[in-house]
Amino acid sequence: MKFFVDTADLAEIRDLAQTGLLDGVTTNPSLIAKSGAKILDVIAEICSVVDGPVSAEVAATDYDTMLKEGRHLAKIAPNVTVKVPLTVDGLKTCKALSAEGTMVNVTLCFSASQAILAAKAGATFISPFVGRLDDIGQDGMGLIDEIVQIYNQYDAFTTEVLVASIRHPIHLVESAKMGAHVATLPPNVIRQLYNHPLTDKGLSGFLKDWAATGQSILDQ
Ligand code: E4P
Repeated sequence: MKFFVDTADLAEIRDLAQTGLLDGVTTNPSLIAKSGAKILDVIAEICSVVDGPVSAEVAATDYDTMLKEGRHLAKIAPNVTVKVPLTVDGLKTCKALSAEGTMVNVTLCFSASQAILAAKAGATFISPFVGRLDDIGQDGMGLIDEIVQIYNQYDAFTTEVLVASIRHPIHLVESAKMGAHVATLPPNVIRQLYNHPLTDKGLSGFLKDWAATGQSILDQ
């Protein structure tokens, strides 16, 4: 399973890249706005830090302008993945950019029928938003299960399921059990994955007992 980080904060991306666990980055217009940076600059910087797919989202809603914006973003670096919303024009743009060899992430997916359309449009990634579904009392993880099952029925569907809008580690673990290809995680959720109180307690016990021996591994 691939791990992407869902942020446009370069300090966070640099820090997480050092773990060796980062396979890509996703951004969206809200995250770019939060960064306070210009989109072309920040995406170029991210691409210089991370080799894997870096999603940069178009801002237009009509096909012609989306296509122009997508081509402009794709020129930044070979690992730019153009993100388009799941609309009629978005999927037309997806089809055109994919045919040109550009990776496309279709975002704002909230149903299995939308995910089928994205696969037919040749998307590299489909981004179902689990947290936002949970927020309105619907079953975010149920949607992931459904999409993975559907995609697995057809060899021609090569679109990867990129679980988005993840709020906590359980979303990630459930996604992994279901066989989702990618999870995009906010930095704080990536950090939560490491934690368990019994790890802290166990380590502190081992360190206490070790100190009592007076030994040093490097001196032996
Ligand atoms: C995915 O690519 C989106 O940027 C993101 O996961 C949205 O998450 P949110 O619902 O926490 O804003």
